[in-house]
Amino acid sequence: MERITTFEQYQQAYKNSVENPEAFWAEQAELFTWRRKWDKTLEWNFNEPDVKWFSGGKLNITENCLDRHLEKRGDQTALIWEPNNPDEAAKKISYKELHSEVCRFANVLKHNGAKKGDRICIYMPMVPELTIAVLACARIGAIHSVVFGGFSFKSLSDRIQDADCNIVITADGGFRGAKDIPLKSVVDEALEICASVKKVIVLKRTHTNVIMKKDRDIWWQEEMEKVSDVCPAETMDSEDTLFILYTSGSTGKPKGVVHTTAGYMVYTDYTFRNVFQYNSGDVFWCTADVGWITGHSYLIYGPLLAGAATLMFEGIPTFPDAGRFWNVIDKHKVNIFYTAPTAIRSLQAMGLDFVKPYKLDSLRVLGSVGEPINEEAWNWYNENIGKKNCPIVDTYWQTETGGMMISAMAGITKTKPGFATLPLPGIQPALVDEKGNELHGNNIEGRLCFKFPWPGIIRTTYGSHERCRETYFNIYKGYYFTGDGCRRDEDGYYRITGRVDDVIKVSGHLLGTAEIENAINEHPDIVESAVVGFPHDIKGWGIYAFVICDNERKDVDNLKSEIIQTVTKYMGPIAKPDKIQIVKGLPKTRSGKIMRRILRKIAENDLANIGDTSTLLDPSVVEEIKIGAVL
Ligand code: PRX
Repeated sequence: MERITTFEQYQQAYKNSVENPEAFWAEQAELFTWRRKWDKTLEWNFNEPDVKWFSGGKLNITENCLDRHLEKRGDQTALIWEPNNPDEAAKKISYKELHSEVCRFANVLKHNGAKKGDRICIYMPMVPELTIAVLACARIGAIHSVVFGGFSFKSLSDRIQDADCNIVITADGGFRGAKDIPLKSVVDEALEICASVKKVIVLKRTHTNVIMKKDRDIWWQEEMEKVSDVCPAETMDSEDTLFILYTSGSTGKPKGVVHTTAGYMVYTDYTFRNVFQYNSGDVFWCTADVGWITGHSYLIYGPLLAGAATLMFEGIPTFPDAGRFWNVIDKHKVNIFYTAPTAIRSLQAMGLDFVKPYKLDSLRVLGSVGEPINEEAWNWYNENIGKKNCPIVDTYWQTETGGMMISAMAGITKTKPGFATLPLPGIQPALVDEKGNELHGNNIEGRLCFKFPWPGIIRTTYGSHERCRETYFNIYKGYYFTGDGCRRDEDGYYRITGRVDDVIKVSGHLLGTAEIENAINEHPDIVESAVVGFPHDIKGWGIYAFVICDNERKDVDNLKSEIIQTVTKYMGPIAKPDKIQIVKGLPKTRSGKIMRRILRKIAENDLANIGDTSTLLDPSVVEEIKIGAVL
């Protein structure tokens, strides 16, 4: 079956996937090019954890993204690129051309000493060369670790060091709206403390002046001239690592989520085709940056595996004005559009005048990802963008799940605003109480877990398997725990209620509160800080920082802007606090633990429900914080 087309087929596929998961996924895996067929479809245990899909199989994912399509659709567009500046020409790259460029850059990597298993950091703007770099790594069996171009030098160096990367691929700079982002100079600063990096390959994009370090830094364009475009793909095992992607956690240190080759391939392809109801020839646009999992799975791998035309946009939704998304949809006749609730809310706030000039009649399916979508934004998206004619798929998933987990299939599953709806075939959710007991039946609320593996599941966290076990598999024995709260309503529909741990979703980006605190504490006058989230109309969640200053600084406004600059410098602009309150003390228990529950209530302006403060070392700090709260 090419893909599911009716709700009855979905129900049947779901039933099959639970009763006989191995047969279900083996059938999907048959669609690909294998160099050697797998021996065993699934081996697993969630205690270690140890999950292997398609073991014994040999393949290369780029042969499935590129070579497999050459005969049938070599001249069809694989990648459409829309530049930041609408006056610059867009590009269309065919499957044949993309194959040639990927092979050529794979040879550049080899020529510069890259080998199978090496870790390569990619820190680039949203240009076609980013996709080429990702696929070129996969072509030669090197492990890509893409770092979002909005992260600053410290976040970048932490990630380079953790994965022990030996090559960094970057650009002189990147264009984002009216700004130029100085990527190369951030890399230079990061590399001052990363001894493992031997080569930096630099794409010329903004043509700004950069310093090129002798014997280390080389130009992308010059290197491409030196090599051929013939590069046979490396043979990979099903369970060889394809990539590492860092995600924030409750502790200050980001986790390198490891995904492997075959399972990730089968899962991103299956979910892409079925959830979006992809038809051959469709133009698909995912607005996520490749620095996040959504960009990996549904801008690059999923669409290319399916042979689609995938659109990559360099800019931002409000440049040159808030009609840009709609302009691009009309310009490239986009059929399937996948974006985040934050973008929808911010464009909604700009008013309909930015939407009206556009026809938007090529659209067939709309998607949402990354955070809960509120009913108002859902309705606006449905009425003004979809013209009540395009099903909306609210896709729930995570960096760790590799692909979508709970989502409608477009036009097949009945939708309800605010609900991710039903689990996809192969996905077995369980809601558990705080002790880990599964809650059965409908009309219940609990913590969202999964009790059976799917092919795209995280295999480990790079450098520390124990961390993976502790974070995801040890909290509730026998389950993978997502960190999200969830409700299952009377129809068995799932609604994600938000994180239950110390991470916050700010504009759809997952940020660890500890990571932001560490950045704030880099300010020389700050001795301690505590960060919590508060509901924010556009961003979903905003960042509220309580900080203790070690001297009596009178220039509070200056201090606050210095704190914002410090966070921007050490983490990046996405982690800038929205509200800062200077406090004398933090609410701590006698054992020294900060009671964040109290701070959250203050940040949410829910002072009536602060609850019991009697276990605090000094309950009077709460009164002081309440008085000075920034509301
Ligand atoms: O809290 C959930 C939220 O995003 C988290 C995962 O973030 P990240 O690993 O950055 O991946 C984002 C893109 C897949 C989840 O734990 N989340 C993601 N999608 C939804 C969502 N919350 C509600 N509804 C969604 N559709």
